[in-house]
Amino acid sequence: MSNIIDGKAFAERLRGDIASRVSKLKAQHQLTPGLAVVLVGEDPASEVYVRNKAKQTVEVGMESVEHKLPADTPEADLLALVDELNKNPDIHGILVQLPLPKHIDEAKVLDSIHYEKDVDGFHLTNVGLLSTGAEGVVPCTPLGSIMMLKDRLGDLSGMNAVVVGRSNIVGKPMANLLLQENCTVTIAHSRTKDLADVCRGADILVAAVGRPEMIPGDWIKPGAAVIDVGINRIERDGKKKLVGDVEFASASGVAGAITPVPGGVGPMTIACLLHNTVQQACRQHKIAMPDA
Ligand code: GUN
Repeated sequence: MSNIIDGKAFAERLRGDIASRVSKLKAQHQLTPGLAVVLVGEDPASEVYVRNKAKQTVEVGMESVEHKLPADTPEADLLALVDELNKNPDIHGILVQLPLPKHIDEAKVLDSIHYEKDVDGFHLTNVGLLSTGAEGVVPCTPLGSIMMLKDRLGDLSGMNAVVVGRSNIVGKPMANLLLQENCTVTIAHSRTKDLADVCRGADILVAAVGRPEMIPGDWIKPGAAVIDVGINRIERDGKKKLVGDVEFASASGVAGAITPVPGGVGPMTIACLLHNTVQQACRQHKIAMPDA
């Protein structure tokens, strides 16, 4: 088996499973899960994300609703839209695309989404459910990462896991998921002393710092599993390029398994968003998630 973890192929399989669950929900429960995506402003990267989300939502048989608001939308108008979507029975998932314009309080908006319609896992109730090991909705990027790790390694019990990065979106929820899998978890960050040595102790290394190729191959324990969450746009030899937080050329010779950038964690994120939408639709209707 190659040591490259093919996130694109994994995400395709996952979307196939989701499509089959959606068709069972339609046939057996007359339920079509619906996802609303709200975009405020005209950030080009966000527009690409939102377009891809809508396309894949429709491809698995779900309803997709897009709300595009101008950059100067008052916070109160955005909150009113979220409230309307919270009350709409055809909408089972609400995603407000981040980042939001500066004049809008992001935390307030995320918390205004009903926690049973939150498909990002950013609502404080879902954060609390994850950190206490209860059933909630799990943020998409860490969820995709843990799925790939379990698929490749099987039981993660007792492994040393190092998460580099402590963001609310990736680092902290990732650490919680690894803890649930009985890993011994270290969260490293910009103030960590001897970061190279900390990384060299990892059986599982998750890089989520947003710094291009910060982690070279000689920080990686031979045979370790490496999940590279970074998506950094750089220019090299006059060409624009996407690179991760791990230096792939040197790391791929040492790691037992590694996700490439692009084609690793990235494609899994949207697939997990669709998974979360189906999960929330089932929860709202108090029905078990159908088998794939
Ligand atoms: N912006 C970039 N990625 C994401 C995501 O996964 N969720 C939300 N809400 N905004 C994002």
